[in-house]
Amino acid sequence: MPAIVMDGRAVSELLMPEVRRNAAELRDRYGYVPALAAILVGSDPASRQYVRNKHRLAQELGCRSEVVEIEAEKASTESLLATIERLNNDRAITGILLQLPVPAHVDQFALFDAIAPEKDVDAVGADAVIGFYRGQWGRFIPCTPRGVLTLLSYYKVPVSGKRAVVIGRSDIAGKPTALILGGRMCNATVTWCHRHTQDLASICREADILVSCVGANVGRPYLITADMIKPGACVIDVGFRRIGPGRFAGDVDFDAVSRVAGWLTPNPGGTGPMTVIALMQNLLDAARYQLGLGRINYSI
Ligand SMILES: NC(=O)c1ccc[n+]([C@@H]2O[C@H](COP(=O)([O-])OP(=O)(O)OC[C@H]3O[C@@H](n4cnc5c(N)ncnc54)[C@H](OP(=O)(O)O)[C@@H]3O)[C@@H](O)[C@H]2O)c1
Repeated sequence: MPAIVMDGRAVSELLMPEVRRNAAELRDRYGYVPALAAILVGSDPASRQYVRNKHRLAQELGCRSEVVEIEAEKASTESLLATIERLNNDRAITGILLQLPVPAHVDQFALFDAIAPEKDVDAVGADAVIGFYRGQWGRFIPCTPRGVLTLLSYYKVPVSGKRAVVIGRSDIAGKPTALILGGRMCNATVTWCHRHTQDLASICREADILVSCVGANVGRPYLITADMIKPGACVIDVGFRRIGPGRFAGDVDFDAVSRVAGWLTPNPGGTGPMTVIALMQNLLDAARYQLGLGRINYSI
């Protein structure tokens, strides 16, 4: 039987009425219109596309959204710190998103930690990290793992007690996903892999849940092939890279893996839309925190 397709577009559409209702409640009951500020450094086409998608969805929900564009050559840690400081002090801004990657000469950790914790909707600052490091939700969960958790929940994939393998250790994708799946919120047993991992294939074959957050060219068409999958496993493809003009690929060989896996995300159309809707969920939570209200619990 082919794998169940974990359709991120469909699940995010299912969530939309709830998200829209919560945005409307903030506006109609509290007179509060959440506002997202995205900082985009440089002209990377993928980053521009991600920011465009986030900006469009925020507006669709009736939120305000501003994109602060900075040329890569003009960006320095100091100038970006000043931008973040301005947005921190702007009472009209609810959430701040620093679109990654930033140029290598910029100290991204200094920027993460400069974002006011109550506006850190991408959950990159030390304050947010402590929450999921300790196995708690905290204020915010980073958008990609939040979207992954929603997909796992919607498709009723068993997680507690299962073997999970997470590939990648960035601060927005692999690292928080590994910590959250292995933490007390999910109780999976996690093996965490990266560029230096030896015999990745045999580690992957042990996974009941495999999350690949790589997106790099690994010298073959796909990092994850069907022979690396335990029959019936859940395979979540986060990696996304441009392979030619207007052509993109994920980490996973979808067609072949779908004949072995139990669940599988398409790419595009899997984790991407879930990450964007998770950002909106975090933005609404940020607005509620600023009004002294609690986090929203969604039905999925
Ligand atoms: N779907 C979504 O919503 C979404 C959201 C965020 C990111 N993404 C995509 O996910 C991908 C990763 O993004 P990121 O920000 O996490 O990137 P990143 O910081 O470049 O991290 C990539 C990770 O992949 C590891 N890696 C590279 N080559 C490998 C190999 N051959 N075997 C095993 N591991 C390898 C790296 O290991 P080292 O640590 O050892 O270098 C690193 O930890 C990108 O394609 C990005 O576009 C998608």
